[in-house]
Amino acid sequence: MEIEGKVALVSGAGSGIGRASVQALAAAGAKVIVSDVDERAGEETAELIRSAGAEASFVRADVTEESDIEQMLAVAQSTFGGLHIVHNNAGILAAGPRFPRTPPERFMRVIDVNLRGVLLATYHAIPLIERSGGGVIVQTASSAALTPHPMHPIYAASKAGVLNFTRSLTHLEEESNIRVNCICPALVRANLTSHAAGLMSDAEREPFVRYRERISELPHVTLDAVAEAVLTLVRDDSLNGKACHITAESVEML
Ligand SMILES: NC(=O)c1ccc[n+]([C@@H]2O[C@H](COP(=O)([O-])OP(=O)(O)OC[C@H]3O[C@@H](n4cnc5c(N)ncnc54)[C@H](O)[C@@H]3O)[C@@H](O)[C@H]2O)c1
Repeated sequence: MEIEGKVALVSGAGSGIGRASVQALAAAGAKVIVSDVDERAGEETAELIRSAGAEASFVRADVTEESDIEQMLAVAQSTFGGLHIVHNNAGILAAGPRFPRTPPERFMRVIDVNLRGVLLATYHAIPLIERSGGGVIVQTASSAALTPHPMHPIYAASKAGVLNFTRSLTHLEEESNIRVNCICPALVRANLTSHAAGLMSDAEREPFVRYRERISELPHVTLDAVAEAVLTLVRDDSLNGKACHITAESVEML
């Protein structure tokens, strides 16, 4: 699908992968809705896009709140008169120490943001995209969806859910002219781990900080490579139900 002139919405676009994705979509000619729970960060992304000469509007939405999701999608319709591309990207890594040392009321937040938020946003986006003549939904899964992730089992479960949800929606192309694909990036430098650290007490944070130090030395995927993968998943009409696995060394369509 040609991106020029389309309307795109990215959640979790105040930072990291979401910001890179929405900037790339805007640079490719889309009118964009920047969404995030963090108002300051989201407004900053929208301003960066506007100062680069593209059209962008910010809407605050917490993807754990279904009414926020509905409102975020409605803003695309009311601001730019349609919706063609949705990138469900908002996500968190951990809400406490490693499973099972975090109680369910804390670790279920990871499922609420990463999986429930994606399911609900996809559900509510479909009729709007259909009404605009069709389009593409991109989900942010993770390489943690593809292999065991002992440090973050709940995160891995949430992302495996996103991956197989994506693979199970191929019928939407025929029914609604909507292709659904996902990205599975390996390590990317963003705020994911510092955000997770902020959700922990001082005592809980100590082992996590050591883990952060260890992974910071591993090769990282660039934000540009992730944004490029999003553009490919939107543009290439042959891609439906696919997972784009992006590592520091390669990009593979699964
Ligand atoms: N950083 C990595 O190594 C990596 C690797 C693979 C996948 N991912 C995934 O990429 C996505 C983006 O993460 P990132 O690495 O750019 O991290 P990030 O922390 O820089 O960005 C995440 C954004 O999501 C927003 N957010 C968090 N909770 C939200 C909520 N309830 N509602 C709306 N917005 C919310 C945050 O405010 C933030 O702006 C996540 O889904 C993450 O799981 C990250």
